[in-house]
Amino acid sequence: MISKEQIQQFHDQGFLVIPDFLERDEIMQLRHRISSIVADFNMEAVSVFSTTEQTKTSDAYFIDSGDKIRCFFEEDAFDDKGTLQRPKDQAINKVGHALHDLDDVFQRVSYKKELGELAHALGMEDPIMVQSQYIFKQPRIGGKVVAHQDSTFIYTDPPSCIGFWMALEDATMENGCLMGIPGSHLAPLHPRRFTRNPDGQSTTFVGAEPKDWDLQQMVPLEAKRGSLVLLHGACVHMSLENRSSSSRHAYIIHMVEHGADWPADNWLQRPANTPFNKLYDLLKN
Ligand code: FE2
Repeated sequence: MISKEQIQQFHDQGFLVIPDFLERDEIMQLRHRISSIVADFNMEAVSVFSTTEQTKTSDAYFIDSGDKIRCFFEEDAFDDKGTLQRPKDQAINKVGHALHDLDDVFQRVSYKKELGELAHALGMEDPIMVQSQYIFKQPRIGGKVVAHQDSTFIYTDPPSCIGFWMALEDATMENGCLMGIPGSHLAPLHPRRFTRNPDGQSTTFVGAEPKDWDLQQMVPLEAKRGSLVLLHGACVHMSLENRSSSSRHAYIIHMVEHGADWPADNWLQRPANTPFNKLYDLLKN
């Protein structure tokens, strides 16, 4: 599944594209299921997901989504009165954050044994799967995601986050593929964190915005449909707007080490009755 050279490349660069990770059937099943989830979604409980700020702050709908399947929409999809200006399936930004635990189709892919083998090959000792997201990156309105490190949002002490980013359609420069700065994960993690406020209803970025990242060093991580992009939690990455006429669907899982500390002020929390699952305990054959 992964060669020694590829593992070394991941450790050197902070990212790695592995082609043909998902089978065609798996992609079709995920896409079909997400269509049903969006079609069934009740618009009354809606939240806009701003990709420039990562999330709208002061939003209980977002902050309680760690053990739920919730839909988040593009800011531009609404008029001033909050009325949706286009069909739901063309206005949605993402679905998160517990598809991997709550939906049987997503669960099957998320806990497939090849992912366990990969996590193991990357040196993860006892990973827990903390969040999953289905990203739509809609044609023409799919927003830019500014440069960031995933460990800002998925923090452990010591840092241990790895992202598993699966392309469900070809991701290209035209439709806003991932871009990353090679080797950026080797510098100390920028001390900025996205935290849950003590009121449990809102979030705050703690720490100054990073200023030293040289975005000129970004390289595109184009990925054919079915590819898996591995992303170190400290890798500085981003994606541009999708100005093309094609969507750029992706399914993303984030894992961290169970043995690392998960702070109580991480934005993402699970109630005691729905704890994070240990990957190696739940692997499917
Ligand atoms: Fe990210």
